[in-house]
Amino acid sequence: MIVAEMDEATGLEKRVSADSCLMRLPRLHGKHLLTIEAPERLLDTGPIREAFLRERASQCGVCSPGMVLSSYIHMKNRLPMSQDEIRRSLSGNLCRCTGYQSILDAVISLDRSPELKAGREEPLDFPQVEKRMHVFVQGDNAYLLPLTLEDLYAARKKYPGARIASGFTGSCVDYKGTVIDISRVRELLQVHVSDSGISIGAGCSFETMKGQMAQHFPYMTPYLDSFASLQVRNQASIGGNIADGSPVGDTMPLCLAHDAVCVVCGPRGTRRIKAGLFTTGYRKVALRSDEVLLAVEFPFPADGTYHFAHKQSRRKNMDISSVSFAASVRVEGKTCSSVRLAYGGMAAVPARALHTERFLKGKVFSRANCQKASACLEKDFSPISDVRGSAAYRMDVAKNMLILLYESYNGEHDGR
Ligand SMILES: Cc1cc2nc3c(=O)[nH]c(=O)nc-3n(C[C@H](O)[C@H](O)[C@H](O)COP(=O)(O)OP(=O)(O)OC[C@H]3O[C@@H](n4cnc5c(N)ncnc54)[C@H](O)[C@@H]3O)c2cc1C
Ligand code: FES
Repeated sequence: MIVAEMDEATGLEKRVSADSCLMRLPRLHGKHLLTIEAPERLLDTGPIREAFLRERASQCGVCSPGMVLSSYIHMKNRLPMSQDEIRRSLSGNLCRCTGYQSILDAVISLDRSPELKAGREEPLDFPQVEKRMHVFVQGDNAYLLPLTLEDLYAARKKYPGARIASGFTGSCVDYKGTVIDISRVRELLQVHVSDSGISIGAGCSFETMKGQMAQHFPYMTPYLDSFASLQVRNQASIGGNIADGSPVGDTMPLCLAHDAVCVVCGPRGTRRIKAGLFTTGYRKVALRSDEVLLAVEFPFPADGTYHFAHKQSRRKNMDISSVSFAASVRVEGKTCSSVRLAYGGMAAVPARALHTERFLKGKVFSRANCQKASACLEKDFSPISDVRGSAAYRMDVAKNMLILLYESYNGEHDGR
């Protein structure tokens, strides 16, 4: 489905794709929900549907509504018409009948479509929604939409047992109780760039983070693209990923490699916690019961610092990591003067490989030294076996990632 809203910053209508199963109704308050059934004057998918027919891109048709809407968003937001970019927009939709090539061919053929470029749709009429916290009550449960931190603290005081939800992709499907939805809290959505670094609001979606980071840390783009699918990245927040405390959350290794700072806030004030101290145990974080994660600060690195990140999962998209890896290595001359190597999926929490870092520091950054350093990972981690990989597999992958890091530095590998 498509969610349309008025972008306050630009005053323009913004449309993004989203997953209906992860969207509670109150979250759409003041927005428009557009499905494949929407009238053509509001959602003009006619040329796309015709292209799908022409290229035989639909058989059983179960996937077609999602494929058509994802293609529509791709065209509407004028994204590049390369196969890679189209695949990125289509990710999250599974077709088991036609296969993806005919779908890609259909979308590519639209590049020449004059109808689609003509912009025949009528602008949407957005309801005037009062700028205050909205509360929806059903039975014993409520759904609250605070707009400011002050609202949020008041909501928490009134409903101490309520679940904080940001993107709500983590527990939307099975959680039944009262929800404090923080996705509109404006302090959590801010991005600041200063001479010393970039601060990303905890409520920013993965797509927002990807766009912001692309300028400063372009190496992160393919890594962030491997997170779930576009629909989930439009909704899931960086703060939710970190506050979840998962050993396989994709953001924490980046934070550890960059020595990022988690800024947390509550009615008693603001605290700054180094990323390395934020996850305190399996799914446990350093937040007090009345605090939320406000932002994450990524300092700009010293000159000569090389970054790398890679995620290994059973599928390229829509899969949780078996092992994830992020690294910052400062190379002066040929020697590593500073090394930070962070892994997800290797322990109960995302963690740095401290023995391995110590081995590499002060040594020439070479393939041979990375190979020798990889033996130190056995001292750093004792991974477990689970559905995403055996302990031995995880260790092998972790070791190979060190080699990939070197190959990427040496221009032999693009990190994908
Ligand atoms: C289809 C699918 C694919 C996925 N793929 C991936 C993947 O590739 N990689 C990955 O890492 N995860 C993945 N996930 C898991 C999940 O989407 C991510 O962890 C996501 O980043 C969670 O963010 P959210 O904003 O949706 O968090 P929410 O679900 O809103 O919250 C998660 C937890 O954090 C708490 N929380 C949220 N924001 C804050 C805050 N600001 N302060 C304090 N506490 C807070 C909530 O109370 C909750 O306990 C996937 C999920 C789905 C459904
Ligand atoms: S046409 Fe059947 S799943 Fe795609």
